[in-house]
Amino acid sequence: MSESTTPEQIQLTADGQLRHFLTTEGLPKALLTEILDTADSFADMSEQQVKKVPLLRGKTVVNLFFEASTRTLSTFELAAKRLSADVLNLNISTSSTKKGETLKDTLMTMHAMHSDMFVVRHSDSGAAHFIASQVTPDVAVINAGDGRHAHPTQAMLDMLTIRRHKGDFAPLRVAIVGDILHSRVARSQIHALRTLGAGEIRVIAPLTLLPRHIESMGVKVYTDMSSGLRDVDVIMMLRLQKERMESALLPSESEFYKLYGLTNDKLAYAHPEAIVMHPGPINRGVEIESAVADGPRSVILNQVTNGIAVRMAVMSMAVSGQQAQRTQNQENDR
Ligand code: NCD
Repeated sequence: MSESTTPEQIQLTADGQLRHFLTTEGLPKALLTEILDTADSFADMSEQQVKKVPLLRGKTVVNLFFEASTRTLSTFELAAKRLSADVLNLNISTSSTKKGETLKDTLMTMHAMHSDMFVVRHSDSGAAHFIASQVTPDVAVINAGDGRHAHPTQAMLDMLTIRRHKGDFAPLRVAIVGDILHSRVARSQIHALRTLGAGEIRVIAPLTLLPRHIESMGVKVYTDMSSGLRDVDVIMMLRLQKERMESALLPSESEFYKLYGLTNDKLAYAHPEAIVMHPGPINRGVEIESAVADGPRSVILNQVTNGIAVRMAVMSMAVSGQQAQRTQNQENDR
């Protein structure tokens, strides 16, 4: 496969089924809706006594995590187990890269173990796409977060959470607040919200934490909370990504909290039934007040639960996309 193939092109089979899941950008509305519908059925199943289905029985899923993670890794692991796959978690940030092994060597080692799916988290933008361009046709790659680029399963679990609380996307005003500049989550959310037809998408941040030309993504830019939050139905907070920040971008954490931290006072600008979201891990007292994070409008823990269902949906869809592609290839060879 050519390395110049874009993430948007590489992730679908010839007849438009999901094959890898690398980014929400460029995917058709029908496919995003299929992910949400499939996830909905898995979410209902998770409330049953027996939570397992055999869709990935006999398959091996390897979670390749080059960057630390708690909720993303554990919900991917649970999702794979509920689909009856065998699961291997590799925390590579603390193993082979420290010993100097390259990404390609790690991949070849995993290939030799006959893995069927790689779930990849990496600090470099484009890492999951690179891996998808290297694997054999019978391996699926799911991006669990690459650099500042994309975090598509997070965006889709956010979309599922919004749809389960608010229904249709068309009438919704949605605000994404905080460190947009360093956020792969915000990018993936904006693409998904646009494709699903959200009525209005706003970003609220100090200018130093906004990527240049962000308006070209189809969002309205606000630099203050009082006008930005006015009448919104959904507030998506982001973590201040201190580990990715050059010091000059922020005056101080307490100044940031004063201006952009979501307190009950600022929440009052939004629609009275607005929901509050955060991908986690949350910094209490930096981007969000504890009373809001733990309050009645918060759906932060629902997001975690929905993460399992969305990851089950994406994994099972990618495996059936692979199978369909294989059948097609065999027919073409005949
Ligand atoms: C996000 C991530 O890692 O990009 N967290 C997550 O997946 N739960 C957001 C963040 O780290 O702030």
